[in-house]
Amino acid sequence: MQPAIATAREVLEEKIKARTARVGIIGLGYVGLPLAVEFAKAGFSVTGIDVQESKVARLNAGESYVQDVPSDALGPLLESKKFHATTDFSVVAQLDTINIAVPTPLRKTKDPDMSYIVSACQETAKYFGPGKLVILESTTYPGTTDELVLPMLERPGLKVGEHFFLCFSPERVDPGNARYQTANIPKVVGGITPACTRLGALFYCRRSRQWFR
Ligand SMILES: NC(=O)c1ccc[n+]([C@@H]2O[C@H](COP(=O)([O-])OP(=O)(O)OC[C@H]3O[C@@H](n4cnc5c(N)ncnc54)[C@H](O)[C@@H]3O)[C@@H](O)[C@H]2O)c1
Repeated sequence: MQPAIATAREVLEEKIKARTARVGIIGLGYVGLPLAVEFAKAGFSVTGIDVQESKVARLNAGESYVQDVPSDALGPLLESKKFHATTDFSVVAQLDTINIAVPTPLRKTKDPDMSYIVSACQETAKYFGPGKLVILESTTYPGTTDELVLPMLERPGLKVGEHFFLCFSPERVDPGNARYQTANIPKVVGGITPACTRLGALFYCRRSRQWFR
């Protein structure tokens, strides 16, 4: 009897559990940078992607511009190659997980400006492929993940829940809270399919070494 071929879900699950999944964070601001640092500290290899070259250069030089991330935290992660930043979206091809944490400012009409999410997803789609988990973290309206993001990523032969996985997990930060920070604040995860939800939840459970080894 032939050995069963592992599914995309099974392969990704094992990579996340072993922390060998290559993590990408798109948007290295107040939300994305602390998240990137937490996953890197937990043992993942993390690539941060941002459109601002000056931010990428500062991070790769070990200089943080986010209060919650001391520059001292970056040096060891850069040296151990657990973290680096880039403006080049082609790295998406090598990533296993992708968190999107780009801005969604309100327009004058009070509707969120979706152009940053659209741009990030369009760039991601150019290098997208099977076996990846994508998690939208930006604050947005209900329906964004399945009505806006999903159609940009799904294509014939690349079916959500089967070949790739997609979740929404809104960022929840409580600035100044000494007890709950990026590493341990409870996250809400909603996947397009049950397999997406399970992988998303597993991923956040691995973001801190204190919780799961
Ligand atoms: N900061 C908070 O306290 C907070 C709390 C809850 C939710 N949020 C939400 O999280 C999201 C991110 O907020 P933030 O405060 O981190 O924003 P931010 O402005 O600090 O950072 C966003 C980063 O994304 C980059 N960026 C913009 N377009 C990009 C693109 N197309 N590709 C790659 N990078 C891109 C910007 O250069 C910037 O570095 C927003 O939706 C926000 O509403 C923020």
